[in-house]
Amino acid sequence: MQERLKELQQEALEGVNKATGLKQLNDIRVSYLGKKGPITEVLKGMGKLSAEERPVMGALANEVRDAISAAIEEKQKLLEQAEIEEKLAKETIDVTLPGRPITQGNHHPLTSLIEEIEDLFIGMGYTIAEGPEVEQDYYNFEALNLPKGHPARDMQDSFYITEETLLRTHTSPVQARTMERNEEKGPIKIICPGKVYRRDNDDATHSHQFMQIEGLVIDENIRMSDLKGTLDVFAKKIFGEDREIRLRPSFFPFTEPSVEMDISCKICGGAGCSVCKGTGWIEILGAGMVHPNVLEMAGYDSKKYTGFAFGMGPERIAMLKYGVDDIRHFYTNDIRFLKQFAKHE
Ligand code: DAH
Repeated sequence: MQERLKELQQEALEGVNKATGLKQLNDIRVSYLGKKGPITEVLKGMGKLSAEERPVMGALANEVRDAISAAIEEKQKLLEQAEIEEKLAKETIDVTLPGRPITQGNHHPLTSLIEEIEDLFIGMGYTIAEGPEVEQDYYNFEALNLPKGHPARDMQDSFYITEETLLRTHTSPVQARTMERNEEKGPIKIICPGKVYRRDNDDATHSHQFMQIEGLVIDENIRMSDLKGTLDVFAKKIFGEDREIRLRPSFFPFTEPSVEMDISCKICGGAGCSVCKGTGWIEILGAGMVHPNVLEMAGYDSKKYTGFAFGMGPERIAMLKYGVDDIRHFYTNDIRFLKQFAKHE
């Protein structure tokens, strides 16, 4: 019996030594140490041994079993390590290969320009206000001194959704909403950028959807000179310090007096060219002193408070600033056009 155990140990250790894979090693474990294995078989025969022999044989059998499992364990570690190394070797990454370049996008030119204008006004103490694009007739027209049937409504061909709702034709309704919302009926200083919609046929200078930025300042003693000073700063910061502005009388139902602001033409320096249509001036925006009716309708005391407002179109400003000749370029998303406005830092 002793012999048999020694033999088994020898055989098993040889097998372990030769094993080249984890599966093979596991088979060895099962066949030598398992319940149906030869060692168990040998131990079963212990009943026939004398009382003196039994503990000696038992101790030997345990020794053999321990030796085999220790050998298996050790080999298992080696094989596992080899497996990991093989995997690592197979999956090596060649870090010297040049990477695939990531194409980096850039802000849309209108987004950049609107942010530039926002920053400028935030620097002058304004906050940004927003309003809905699907607007009520009341805020889009009536609260701006444009009652139903007013002929000036035709200045802005509208997309009506129901009798009382439409896609806003300008960002001016945000003025009315902000004044109405102001519970103290106190000072306001906002600009409101956003999309507006008009029933226009698209061409080089018209789009059925475009952007506007509205400005509104309400306080005691706000005067036309405040408006002029503000617009002068705006024009010089956006178009260049050498630009002059001029205010021309105009008409908007929500302002009185109303003006349009022109900037001096940079291309001809005022001499007259095709861009300024020979006048030396280019129209940029509409503005004026907030009409007392507009203040009163929003609950303001028009004896105490005055204000100015202005509205501009970022597309037009971008076209002049960057020399773009067709408004549709901003909306057709031709990557060759958009890429020209990438800022390379
Ligand atoms: N809402 C006008 C338009 O879309 C632009 C405008 C003119 C806005 C004068 C104003 C303003 O706030 O005072 O044509």
